[in-house]
Amino acid sequence: MIKPSIKTITLSRLLSFLLLAAVVMSVVIAFNFRMLSHNIVKNEATSIADIIKAGLTAHMKADVMDKRSFFLNEIKTVHDISEIEIIRAPAVNRQFGVSQLEKEAGEIVKKVFETKQPEFIIDDFGIIPSIRAVMPYIATNQGRLNCLDCHQVSEGTVLGAVDITLDITKYRSMASWLLMVLLVASLTIILLIAINTLRTVQVYIKDPLENLIVKAKDAYVTHEPVNSETFTTVEFENVAKEINHFNKDIIANQDMLKQLNFNLLELNNEIEDTLRETVFTMGVIEEQRSKEAKNHTRRVTEYSKLLATKLGLSNRDVELIASAAPLHDIGKLGIPDSILFKPGKLTTEEFETMQNHPAIGYSMLSHSKRDILKAAAIIAHQHHEKWNGSGYPWGLRQNDIHVYGRIVALADVYDALLSERHYKKAWPLDDVISWVEKESGSHFDPDLVDILISNIEEFVAIGVLYNSNNDGMDVEP
Ligand SMILES: [Fe+2]
Ligand SMILES: [Fe+2]
Repeated sequence: MIKPSIKTITLSRLLSFLLLAAVVMSVVIAFNFRMLSHNIVKNEATSIADIIKAGLTAHMKADVMDKRSFFLNEIKTVHDISEIEIIRAPAVNRQFGVSQLEKEAGEIVKKVFETKQPEFIIDDFGIIPSIRAVMPYIATNQGRLNCLDCHQVSEGTVLGAVDITLDITKYRSMASWLLMVLLVASLTIILLIAINTLRTVQVYIKDPLENLIVKAKDAYVTHEPVNSETFTTVEFENVAKEINHFNKDIIANQDMLKQLNFNLLELNNEIEDTLRETVFTMGVIEEQRSKEAKNHTRRVTEYSKLLATKLGLSNRDVELIASAAPLHDIGKLGIPDSILFKPGKLTTEEFETMQNHPAIGYSMLSHSKRDILKAAAIIAHQHHEKWNGSGYPWGLRQNDIHVYGRIVALADVYDALLSERHYKKAWPLDDVISWVEKESGSHFDPDLVDILISNIEEFVAIGVLYNSNNDGMDVEP
């Protein structure tokens, strides 16, 4: 899962908060602005209604009520008034009779007559926004005119009502425009805050952090401390100092671990060398007890190593074969002297006893968990198996015989033929090569025979270096 960056988290949280704040502020401002607009249009309607009332009173006093239509039309035009209705209250109807000029009182007007309070109906979401104001005309003797005398009514009697409807489109347009300006200003401020915050995160967190990671890696490689003074904030300066302390400890521990590791490798090499030398010495002990030709163990080891290398086995396999080959005949330690050193031909029974030496060798070595001894157990067990399945003890065939066994089988016989034994003379090299070639694919792995023949000079050189007359003490393995 890809984790979000500090910039992404900061931006998303900041924008969420600012947008929420902007929405709340816009709603509050819009609500208050609407209330304010309503008060303004109510005041305007009230003022106009008062002018109309004053005008009508003047017409009445001048006794020109028949001219009032001109006055009402004029005021309608000047003040964007859609409708003007003058409604007589019951008290005036009783005094002067029902006029043809005035309309009958509707529900809202009746309510105004009853409550003596003005009524306002505002429609600010219609196609043409408007306010309808119904203002009561209440008799009073306050002021220059005494209504009570003219209309012969008591103080506070409702004489009529002025019902006007004003177009308030200009107020709604103004409100819309102001809301738009507010919205644009809010979004601009949000954008500026977001840019500034991102810039701050980039300059004071992201860049120093990446810089610190690079410098920390360099410090680890070069063992040079991070220069903490190059960081502009105290937090990163402190982190850089901590990295330097940490690095110092690591470097000190690294040096100690390197030395310990070196000592361990030395110790391991010493143990492996000791094991190899012990194994080789065991092979030499067996060689001497069996009265094999001198250096037979050494030569078989070197021939096996060369065959394994030329066959393309891994370095580890070559190393294991070279270390384990000396023990190929260790099982002969379990064969009685009377059979091992019998000068003449062995009886069938004696030969069968002699053929037990691979199994004896295997039983001596197979308990071990060490790689060298495990390899030695395989070699001891399988070095008398033959490619065509006629060998012993199992009669394994071809690649069923472990490659260690196939290699040592060829190296062992090649050296035995070239060496003098108590029961035979040493064969000439040409005879040995001919015989080995003849046995390719029957006794020996044909690939290994090809390697031996193709590189015969190198095998001969090994035979010369570790010849039977050399006591082996002055030749390093
Ligand atoms: Fe053997
Ligand atoms: Fe041998």
